[in-house]
Amino acid sequence: MNTKRIVQLVMGVVLAAAACGNSWAQKAEGLASTPQMGWNSWNKFACNIDERLIRETADAMVATGLKDAGFQYVNIDDCWHGERDANGDIQPDPKRFPSGIKALADYVHGKGLKLGIYSDAGATTCGGHPGSRGHEYQDARTYARWGIDYVKYDWCDAQSLNAEAAYTTMRDAIAKSGRPMLFSLCEWGINRPWEWAGSVGHSWRTTPDIYNCFDCEFSPGFSTGLGVLRILDRQAGLRKFAGPGHWNDMDMLEVGNGMTEDEDRAHLSIWAMMASPLILGNDLRSMSESTRRILTNPGVIAVSQDKLGVEALRVLVDGPVEIYAKPLDGGQWALMFLNRSNQAVDVRHDWKKQVLTDDLSKRSVDFKQNVYGWSDLWSKKTGDTSTTLQARLAPHSVLMLRLTGPAKT
Ligand code: GLA
Repeated sequence: MNTKRIVQLVMGVVLAAAACGNSWAQKAEGLASTPQMGWNSWNKFACNIDERLIRETADAMVATGLKDAGFQYVNIDDCWHGERDANGDIQPDPKRFPSGIKALADYVHGKGLKLGIYSDAGATTCGGHPGSRGHEYQDARTYARWGIDYVKYDWCDAQSLNAEAAYTTMRDAIAKSGRPMLFSLCEWGINRPWEWAGSVGHSWRTTPDIYNCFDCEFSPGFSTGLGVLRILDRQAGLRKFAGPGHWNDMDMLEVGNGMTEDEDRAHLSIWAMMASPLILGNDLRSMSESTRRILTNPGVIAVSQDKLGVEALRVLVDGPVEIYAKPLDGGQWALMFLNRSNQAVDVRHDWKKQVLTDDLSKRSVDFKQNVYGWSDLWSKKTGDTSTTLQARLAPHSVLMLRLTGPAKT
């Protein structure tokens, strides 16, 4: 064997070892090429959960048409836990989940859906249950054995942990488990996860928890809950960090939990425009027909799931009305007029007065040169940009359009 051949062989072994070392130190790709869609137990049920709720929610996701609309994850949040057994393996609460999580995963999978679970980087979860600290690889292995598809990983009891390191450990643990699982970081934006989490998780929370109101804030001492507009305002500057496979997460939806229908439509529209994960937070078993229709709006969901994966930018502020634009695949755009005030507002929008420009996606439209057709994704009205748009926006409502074109030049 000549020297060249020996060098080639040695290099081959070295490269193979490096590839092997890296092969599991990666998040699973392809799981969130568009923002993930599903349901989570926390917003509506907090710790009041059991296997029956999860099964019935899976049933309802199918029966109500939510599955056909694109929702697929059924996610169990905090408080499913029992104790660790003698080997340190985490067990579900035997009273709430007597059949075990594997049986639940089989049930959910049998409906063509996926099952998610929750843990925490610290030793205890926010609800005081066992977290994964020191058990990361063991827990990921357990989740894989159970057939889990999605892990939401919280940040309570984090103490002096380094966020990037702690989340990377769990990413590697999930990868080593051999089962692809969507990894959802829930660190509330404290350590600027948008700057480092793109290769760690599929999404990262950008704010404290959502609070079920359109424009308010709730701060009972140590924690803060933010209404819809407060969360929106905290997304400024973050859009450049998001894209296919790595999303800014504005937290789970409160649609159907008591806001007005206009507020619910605006809430879903904003989350779709901002390419945030769409994780429902209401009781799917008993939602009203109007909530069901809001949540299954195909035009709004198509904006969320647009394969370009570019978050909207704010292009205009006119008193209480803001206009957001989201570049879409195929040269199209979504446009959202948001009335932030609790008064109705009359909008007159002369398309030709402003060139629509997005430096991030390098897209631009001059409506003096191009006429785009538009369709209103909520009312289904249509029109085009050759004439001034006139509309009355109810308090806390949106007008959401898809611009198709150019129709002519
Ligand atoms: C944190 C998270 C919430 C929820 C609770 C559960 O507050 O941000 O989304 O998971 O913990 O205790």
